[in-house]
Amino acid sequence: MTKSILVINGPNLNLLGTREPGIYGEETLSDIEQRMIEKASLLGLSVDFRQSNIEGEIVNWIQEAQDGFSAIIINAGALTHTSVAIMDALLAVNTPTVEVHLSNIFKREEFRHHSYITPAAIGMITGFGAIGYLLAIDAINDVI
Ligand code: DQA
Repeated sequence: MTKSILVINGPNLNLLGTREPGIYGEETLSDIEQRMIEKASLLGLSVDFRQSNIEGEIVNWIQEAQDGFSAIIINAGALTHTSVAIMDALLAVNTPTVEVHLSNIFKREEFRHHSYITPAAIGMITGFGAIGYLLAIDAINDVI
């Protein structure tokens, strides 16, 4: 059976393409999703995408990932730096998770240096722009 990866993007990532392109790049979220579909299919994996600006919705999706998904790729946006609820959900489901950020969060404001996602993730890819999501697929492919 084809293994599926759940890709979750958090607040404001629906605005990629027009949102601070100097920081986040010019590709839209759907451009990135298209590249991920192509990459995943080369590896015999499938990808399923969700985006929300609402923390609780993201928590629900993580809980649901237990049924049917082999791994999670998550860019929680600003919730990265605030959400104990997302961290707890990831710890609860115990599904291999890779954390992605387009920008290098450690080169930015101090409040972005801490992530609640990292303790629940295998690792973090940060600062490589859209390619980070493709690197995350490679990382997951190696683990699952
Ligand atoms: C981000 C970094 C976060 O600090 C920010 O709030 C985002 C995007 C990134 O992909 O670089 O929304 O997760």
